[in-house]
Amino acid sequence: MQAQALCYSSVMIFTVGQNKGGVGKTTVAMNLAIELQRRGRRPALVDADHTLRTAQLWADDRVRAGLPPIPAFAGEGNLMSTLENLHESHDDVILDVRGGDSTEMRTGLVASDVLVVPTTGQQNDLDSLEPLERTVKQAWDFNPELAVIVVLNRVSPQGSRYEIEDAKAYLEDFPDFRLAETVLTTAKAWSRARTEGKGVVEIDGKAKAAMQLLTSEIVSAAGEK
Ligand SMILES: Nc1ncnc2c1ncn2[C@@H]1O[C@H](COP(=O)(O)OP(=O)(O)OP(=O)(O)O)[C@@H](O)[C@H]1O
Ligand SMILES: [Mg+2]
Repeated sequence: MQAQALCYSSVMIFTVGQNKGGVGKTTVAMNLAIELQRRGRRPALVDADHTLRTAQLWADDRVRAGLPPIPAFAGEGNLMSTLENLHESHDDVILDVRGGDSTEMRTGLVASDVLVVPTTGQQNDLDSLEPLERTVKQAWDFNPELAVIVVLNRVSPQGSRYEIEDAKAYLEDFPDFRLAETVLTTAKAWSRARTEGKGVVEIDGKAKAAMQLLTSEIVSAAGEK
């Protein structure tokens, strides 16, 4: 099988995935889409979590709130044809997959430029990087250009230094996974934005600045593996 990412050279595809639930996958996917749109790109969000459809519901909220729409599509099973259809009319495709191993994540990884892995600094969330690494290694057989960037999320604003140091030490065992320099701290802005159909980049504050820096890191990761 040919490396699928090469077929989408003009389109950037980002899968936001982690085996654990509740670590911020959908939050990062939605905010990445908005920030890319603010930069003049034409993003599409693929909601590949049929159990929740959070991203699609949020995109509907945006339309109702009169905010610039983010096109959101439901994806289920093998996503290759979904991605192929979207690459005609969009600059970036962001896949939001459910926690755990899934066909959606596996097919997404074969086509993606970057796997974005939100995780908290808690040991049980970090431990789930091990099974994820096995899945990524299988994807590399088909898509060696896939870059992996781990994003520390929900870090305590007070004790962030220790959490970051511990996570960095843990990630030394994953030499092909890079840790984003931008750390997302716990803040009300994330859930507040979400309930209003917004992203944090549409609300001034620290979360906005962090998401903008993180977006730049994710975009540069796409060209660096
Ligand atoms: N940095 C943060 N600060 C505060 N709350 C956050 C932060 N990041 C995410 N959240 C909140 O945590 C909850 C879970 O986030 P999210 O739905 O993005 O996780 P997920 O990994 O997609 O979960 P699931 O596996 O259920 O799909 C949401 O209520 C979200 O608003
Ligand atoms: Mg989710």
